[in-house]
Amino acid sequence: MQNTLKKPTLALTIAGSIFFAACNQSAPKSTIMRDSTSTKTTALPAATGFEQTIDGKKTELYVLKNKSGAEAAITNYGAHLVSLLVPDKNGKLTDVILGFDDIAGFQKAGGAYYGATIGRYGNRLAKAKFILDGKEYKLFANNGPNTLHGGKKGFDSMVWDAKQIDSSSIELTYLSKDMEEGFPGNLKVKVVYTLTDDNAVKITYEASTDKKTVVNLTNHSYFNLNGQGSGTALNHVVQIDADGYTPVDSILIPTGKIEPVKGTPFDFTTATAIGARIETANEQLKFGKGYDHNFVLKKHDISTPIANAVGDKSGIKLEVFTEEPGLQFYTGNFMNGSNTLKGGAKDEHRTAFAMETQHYPDSPNQPSFPSTMLKPGAVYKTVTIYKFSK
Ligand code: GLA
Repeated sequence: MQNTLKKPTLALTIAGSIFFAACNQSAPKSTIMRDSTSTKTTALPAATGFEQTIDGKKTELYVLKNKSGAEAAITNYGAHLVSLLVPDKNGKLTDVILGFDDIAGFQKAGGAYYGATIGRYGNRLAKAKFILDGKEYKLFANNGPNTLHGGKKGFDSMVWDAKQIDSSSIELTYLSKDMEEGFPGNLKVKVVYTLTDDNAVKITYEASTDKKTVVNLTNHSYFNLNGQGSGTALNHVVQIDADGYTPVDSILIPTGKIEPVKGTPFDFTTATAIGARIETANEQLKFGKGYDHNFVLKKHDISTPIANAVGDKSGIKLEVFTEEPGLQFYTGNFMNGSNTLKGGAKDEHRTAFAMETQHYPDSPNQPSFPSTMLKPGAVYKTVTIYKFSK
């Protein structure tokens, strides 16, 4: 079985190009202001916090800018998206991504994966193993008995090679060696971040292997559209184009079923505040300690958003476009204030949410889920766009 879902068709590519051309023509020319009076961060972190040598390689902070005044910061340590400044309804630049002022912050909070590029396999693999062509591959159990987000040292903790392509885009590459974290095949990975002029972060993932393997890459940014450090995310209004989701057991492994969202707190087909039903007596919400579930997206392509969220205070709207079939909607249920974010705010409970575009969790162990297998000679390529407007 080929990883067909990850291969964009020509039609998709053309549709994508038309979409980008259209968006570029209408790039907003807003007046940008920086607010220095609140606790929210309104500037990118200093580069010095990111200038280190880790595993014998240099780490740095890279800055992307677009013609509309938005700015993003990315580090090659774990290919993290560190900051993203976009204008709110009053034109004030607002940092909508949670992150840290230095690499030590990201390392200390490693288990939360703030802004990280996740690999080789996003989300959980049951019992820290999978079988490929009859052979069992044993992984590291870093989440109870399961493997989460790549294992003991996932792509989020690796130093990537970085090449800034131009002022608005950067290419990060990483070679995940055969049997690294127990996964077969030398996997060459490329992630390109582009800050487009219509205030979108476009993330292109590519990978190829020399042995059959499994791949599921994603970005683990936590969003607070009111601005990092501005309190609860529960009043954000969210919409997800999914009629179904993959329910989990008590340790968050999918049961293998796809259940309809209709009539449940998982129905986000119409825009609903995150907090409206999060405390409902519901076994799935109990298992997740809130929302921490994979939504089965309706048939879509990259030209139409599959999810959106609006910050109740800022008016900033996030639209998510992806070629992936699933979306892990995670409402920061494990956040507990133990980390100090950029500018001094604490990462308090549910003060952000993640929308991780992906193939479904545990797919290699779930024959009915779309395949995540990648064969030598095939190219894994998938695009996700986080677009911001007001
Ligand atoms: C994913 C998982 C969550 C949690 C976060 C990181 O979203 O599904 O359970 O582990 O990553 O804290």
